[in-house]
Amino acid sequence: VFGENRKNSMGVATDIESEWTPFADKVAQYMTDSQWHAAPLVNGETLNGDAQPVLSPYNRSLQVGTLAFASEQHASQALDIAAESFASWAALKAEARGEYLLKLADKLEENLPELVALCHREAGKTIHDSIDEVREAVDFLRYYPVEATTMMDSPESFTHFTGESRTAVYSGRGVFTCISPWNFPLAIFIGQVAAALVAGNTVVAKPAEQTSLIAYRAIQLLLETGIPAGVVHLLPGKGAVVGNALTRDERIAGVAFTGSTPTAQRINQSLAQRDAEPVPLIAETGGQNAMIVDSTALPEQVVRDVLRSAFASAGQRCSALRVLYVQEDIAERVITLIRGAMSELSVGEPSLLSTDVGPVIDEMAQRKLKAHIAEMDRHAEKVASVKLDASCDNGTFVAPTAFEIDSISRLDQEHFGPILHILRYKADELDQIIDQINQTGFGLTLGVHSRNEGTYRHIDKRARVGNCYINRDQVGAMVGVQPFGGQGLSGTGPKAGGPHYLHRFAKVEVQA
Ligand code: SER
Repeated sequence: VFGENRKNSMGVATDIESEWTPFADKVAQYMTDSQWHAAPLVNGETLNGDAQPVLSPYNRSLQVGTLAFASEQHASQALDIAAESFASWAALKAEARGEYLLKLADKLEENLPELVALCHREAGKTIHDSIDEVREAVDFLRYYPVEATTMMDSPESFTHFTGESRTAVYSGRGVFTCISPWNFPLAIFIGQVAAALVAGNTVVAKPAEQTSLIAYRAIQLLLETGIPAGVVHLLPGKGAVVGNALTRDERIAGVAFTGSTPTAQRINQSLAQRDAEPVPLIAETGGQNAMIVDSTALPEQVVRDVLRSAFASAGQRCSALRVLYVQEDIAERVITLIRGAMSELSVGEPSLLSTDVGPVIDEMAQRKLKAHIAEMDRHAEKVASVKLDASCDNGTFVAPTAFEIDSISRLDQEHFGPILHILRYKADELDQIIDQINQTGFGLTLGVHSRNEGTYRHIDKRARVGNCYINRDQVGAMVGVQPFGGQGLSGTGPKAGGPHYLHRFAKVEVQA
């Protein structure tokens, strides 16, 4: 279902079969032969400890590798070395720092089959999503060096009416903590690390506990570029141990975080309790993302974009569609088509190219989503639910499900999985529903389907969201094309993959 209408990182439509086939054997070999390992990587050295098995989300009896968590002592050691390494790293030209990232981009491409296999095994992503994952990481690695060189190596001068001339000079802040999520275990992880490094900071990175193997592999490849080992350290571990240590320490100069809104709020509190200078928190968090479909929209196109927005990546994108508003005149037709299209979704073993929806990340996510489905079963009308076959029995799968609900206020939080909520609205209620969406406090993505330019421009203007997508799906922001990030409860900005992202990672001095 999602195989069509795909674009590569240059926005060119591609055919997944022909793109995949040359890699298929190698990927299959990595899947069958490889076991991966991750541990704290400090100053270029792997610090082994008690290793625990890492199991695949699509088959909980399949071991992907082993993982040793970092301790608070490891965090402190990494912070010391990162702090010592800052001055010499910051003194380099941005272009020189960027060279290491460009080399890493090449290495990710050279190692595509392994990374696709690992992403697929560890995060349970489909093959389509695993390829996109590596591509997005490559895009970040090639985009930020260009931005940094412009911003930092050619400082901007201002001449005022007084005749005085001043120059804005950007430089790194110090040691940056990067805390990344499991839903984009390579792309967001590398995006944060690349931005912090190229802007002149040294980095201590804590990947999500569920996806530390791919992060470790990426840092190994980064070290192979010859980057000074003191400038980047990896600390796989629990948020309560490593995350806390890295956000309350006085040696840090900033935090980049992508994950849930409550965790971002806790990081803010932790930063506020430091008896040291205030430092920036760059947070990309959740959403209660809606799509508004008016009666001029084309139902077939709407349904294609709804399915991709709600169910691709098993709904585990912060951009994913959660609440679909359909104008009542076409609601019956759209809902009927959604029901039909959902019956075509193939859910299961994510290594098959035909699979549209893989598992959710782990048992806890599965439990929460199933509890929400059970709650909705009591209060809402089920539109459709995909029946899972036996191939899903060993993994953490959740059946893609759609409900009709009577109010967005039924949803007290973000439900991070393949569950769609549908509401009907009357033409004269448009402003009211935009206001309801704004009142959730989140503001990440919004989809609009309308052939009336006045309507979609009005919605775009009135809605308070980071990314509004018109007459298309609302997931898959492209680096440099759709700078990504929300407002309100959805994050602090600036937008990742956009021209202003690096400014927050740097400090600026206005010099005479
Ligand atoms: N950037 C992703 C998307 O646009 C979400 O994190 O889907």
